[in-house]
Amino acid sequence: MIVVTGATGKLGRYAVAGLLEKVPASEIVAAVRTPEKAADLAALGVGVREADYDRPETLVSAFQGADKVLLISGNDLGADRVAQHQAAIDAAKDAGVALLAYTSELRADTSPLKLAAAHKETEQNIQNSGLPFVFLRNGWYFENQTMMLGPAIQHGAILGAAGEGRFASAAIADYAAAAVAVLTQSGQENKIYELAGDAPYTMAEMATEVTKQAGKPVAYNNLSPQEYQNALVGFGLPAFMAEYLVDAEVCAAQGELDDSSHTLHTLIGRPTGTLAEAVAAALK
Ligand SMILES: NC(=O)c1ccc[n+]([C@@H]2O[C@H](COP(=O)([O-])OP(=O)(O)OC[C@H]3O[C@@H](n4cnc5c(N)ncnc54)[C@H](OP(=O)(O)O)[C@@H]3O)[C@@H](O)[C@H]2O)c1
Repeated sequence: MIVVTGATGKLGRYAVAGLLEKVPASEIVAAVRTPEKAADLAALGVGVREADYDRPETLVSAFQGADKVLLISGNDLGADRVAQHQAAIDAAKDAGVALLAYTSELRADTSPLKLAAAHKETEQNIQNSGLPFVFLRNGWYFENQTMMLGPAIQHGAILGAAGEGRFASAAIADYAAAAVAVLTQSGQENKIYELAGDAPYTMAEMATEVTKQAGKPVAYNNLSPQEYQNALVGFGLPAFMAEYLVDAEVCAAQGELDDSSHTLHTLIGRPTGTLAEAVAAALK
């Protein structure tokens, strides 16, 4: 049995959909914070169990009988994600799972991104647990950037602080396909995958692509970190969230979100989705 946490999130939904193409629905469990949100998955025959990272007892019962668990990292940057993930590690240990796959971040062990700190610690905790593991170290999502294209096109500008830094982004669906690959192939124990898109690009190149597809000029406006922080807070983002994003941009300017390994391509057995496809999907 394969248990997927965070299965009502974007990555989780793609992962369950991908698993359904390879294993019977009765072998899949969507372990979710809010079971009502997974009614559509239950209708497909997928098991639905409550699993809240803040309520360890739910994780223990959700993981019972699991051979493999895909632990999708929590999305609440204001929470103690290390403690949340530790509860899931403990529950996986309790259930005696044969493989714990964890969605981490690109080069989490050495990355200077503030976002990487919780992933690095979680990876260490998983390794200390003695459980067989796989680290899916996901690079940047295209969707982080394409979700902002509406206002960008309206104002003719994409804002950022990444300078000429390259983003080796991939679509969430491609990262999910990687998770499905490791969950359905043998011999994955203790592997670490650095996952990223095939064709890194700068934000200026993204602006050029958006201009082409939107039929309207959109420039990349590179701001100082402080200016970008002010802009994000001005858009209504909480200051601590803005700090994470600004930090990621500053790190990207230094090449920290770039990658040329093509490991994601190899793992999913096809080229990763392109920037043009990501922009087209967002403008649909
Ligand atoms: N690499 C990147 O560029 C990037 C970008 C964004 C996020 N991420 C990370 O990747 C993860 C997956 O991405 P995504 O796009 O699928 O995120 P998402 O759509 O926000 O989904 C996150 C999932 O985590 C679940 N969750 C949050 N808190 C929980 C809790 N206390 N107990 C149980 N489940 C909880 C949510 O449950 P509900 O459905 O109930 O809300 C949701 O299903 C994120 O959570 C984040 O850690 C990476």
